[in-house]
Amino acid sequence: MKFFVDTADLKEIEELAATGLLDGVTTNPSIIAKSGQEFIPLIKEICDIVDGPVSAEVAATDFDTMMKEAEILRKIADHVAIKVPLTPDGLRVCKALTDEGTMVNVTLCFSAAQALLAAKAGASFISPFVGRLDDISSDGLALIQDICLIYENYNFDTEVLVASVRSPMHIIEAAKMGAHVMTSPPSVIKQLYKHPLTDSGLAAFVEDWKNSGQSIL
Ligand code: E4P
Repeated sequence: MKFFVDTADLKEIEELAATGLLDGVTTNPSIIAKSGQEFIPLIKEICDIVDGPVSAEVAATDFDTMMKEAEILRKIADHVAIKVPLTPDGLRVCKALTDEGTMVNVTLCFSAAQALLAAKAGASFISPFVGRLDDISSDGLALIQDICLIYENYNFDTEVLVASVRSPMHIIEAAKMGAHVMTSPPSVIKQLYKHPLTDSGLAAFVEDWKNSGQSIL
């Protein structure tokens, strides 16, 4: 499973990139607004840190303006994935861009029917929002299961990018289903390292080694 981080915080991105476990970055207009930084230079800086796909979302909702925005965004770097909403115009943009070899991440997916359309439009990534479905008492992970099954049935190349991730459980369950990618806030990625038995076991090893009076170096 590839790990993308869902943030525009450069310090967090640098820290995670240094682990060697980070495969890409996703952003959206809310994340950019929260950063308080200018969109295009910020995406450029992220692209300089991470080699994998960096999602940058169009702001318009009509076909012509989205195409113009995408034209600017894709010039930032070859590994920018243009993020478009799952609407008829968004999928038209998706088809036009992927036909030209540009990566596209189709966002705001909440149903298997939408995911099927995105794959037919040639999306590089489909982003089903697991947490937001759970928030309305729907089953976000069940949607991941359905999309993985449908994509497998037809050998679609579109990668399932599990988005709106709220906990390690979302990641592990989606990994068991074979989802290709997940994107989560940095805090959730950091939680993956954690286990109380690791902490207590390490504390005991450190203490016992100290008491042995030995040194490796
Ligand atoms: C990623 O592409 C999405 O924009 C993001 O995961 C949404 O997460 P949220 O539901 O926590 O805002």
